Amino acid sequence: MSFKESQRIKSIIARDKKVMLTSTKEAYSFVPSHGEGEFIYDIEGNKFIDFSSFISVYNFGVGGNKEIRKAIKDQVNKLTHAASTDFYSEEQVLLAEEMLKLLPRGFGRFFFSNSGTEANEAAIKFSKLFTKRQYIMAFYNSFHGRTIGSLGLTSSKIVQRRGFGPFNASFHAPYAYCYRCPFGKEYPSCGLACVDYIKKYPLSREVPPDEIAAIIMEPVQGEGGYIVPPKDFVKEIRKLADDNGILLIDDEVQAGYFRTGKFTAISNFGVEPDIYSMAKAVGGGLPMGVTVTRRSLGDIPYGAHSNTFGGNLAAVAAARASLSYAKRNWRRIERGIESRSRLMLSRLNRMKDEYEIVGDVRGIGMMIGVELVKDKKSKEPAEEEQERILKECFSNNLVLLPAGVSSIRIIPPLEISFESLRKGLDILEDAISNADKSLRSR
Ligand SMILES: Cc1ncc(COP(=O)(O)O)c(C=O)c1O
Repeated sequence: MSFKESQRIKSIIARDKKVMLTSTKEAYSFVPSHGEGEFIYDIEGNKFIDFSSFISVYNFGVGGNKEIRKAIKDQVNKLTHAASTDFYSEEQVLLAEEMLKLLPRGFGRFFFSNSGTEANEAAIKFSKLFTKRQYIMAFYNSFHGRTIGSLGLTSSKIVQRRGFGPFNASFHAPYAYCYRCPFGKEYPSCGLACVDYIKKYPLSREVPPDEIAAIIMEPVQGEGGYIVPPKDFVKEIRKLADDNGILLIDDEVQAGYFRTGKFTAISNFGVEPDIYSMAKAVGGGLPMGVTVTRRSLGDIPYGAHSNTFGGNLAAVAAARASLSYAKRNWRRIERGIESRSRLMLSRLNRMKDEYEIVGDVRGIGMMIGVELVKDKKSKEPAEEEQERILKECFSNNLVLLPAGVSSIRIIPPLEISFESLRKGLDILEDAISNADKSLRSR
């Protein structure tokens, strides 16, 4: 182990606890200072490999790459806040036009905000206006944000909801979490029992489908545990929406923006939504939320939705620089994601064969999750071991984040070097092996 918590770090953490109300800090003592590529240094100069992209934000490197940082600096020297929901800004229009080129035909109306939860709030409000219906259907294990509207749709952990209800008109349906099928079945012989259930129960006995404005779904569930559904599940949900005049909101906040090797994660499933919401990596490190609707859905009434800071010009400049970098280097980046993904999946699947504690490995592109279990037969979640592994990796200078009850997310910057990728996986394997040994020796 090489990381040692210094007096200075201890003191910052103690002071943080006195003045901050944030309740989601990780179990390890990370006080980052600066970074580049896949490397990040803490305030004592300790160097870490980043397998977190700082919660799926730094897709093109810690701190954004040089082009993104330069674009931000240049824009800051001109104007940051342009009140673009009241006035006009060509930069915002350009960003919308540039993003449009990466989306399927028929999309065309953008709303900019500052976060994922706000992007979803806008999507919820727009879908209600477009359909004149009230209900939103979301999925269990989903995470759509923590403002009251989005939180009503989030269903990943009880602690996130406790004390905040009642929520807006919404309900939850089972997602195709095949490793832990709520119906105890196996895919594909299940015949998608989860979709059948949605039709037979919530939609037949609880909420009239013609009162449902939208279904919101993450094409790959993130915070809920890095859960990849089968392709036909996503297709069936699209069909369910179409059959009932319901809009499909695609929450791309975590899975989108090239993370899975495509601009949007839902395109891996051959499905197009009616509304996209995006955030996190879009702003290259600055706060940026984006909601995009199909042009055919039309306009919203004058004054119906707005904000102050959405599409702040520094964030727009960062987003445009990041998009331009991705477009110019796309062939190389795309091939790189494919080969890094193969490397990660084959190493992690070998770990699954070797260690009882690795219950499941799943992912698309460079969005990969490892679900930890006490043993493969019982599938009891290995919650303490998850924390132990994250801490041990951090002590060995690898930054990782948890997901779900007992999963670990592996989401390095998309262009991480193969050397760092291998080194990070070595550190992770050591920690997994130690946790596995200690479980077996009990
Ligand atoms: C899929 C998804 N949607 C929405 C959000 C909320 O985004 P934010 O934290 O920017 O509000 C998150 C955050 O993790 C997310 O993963």
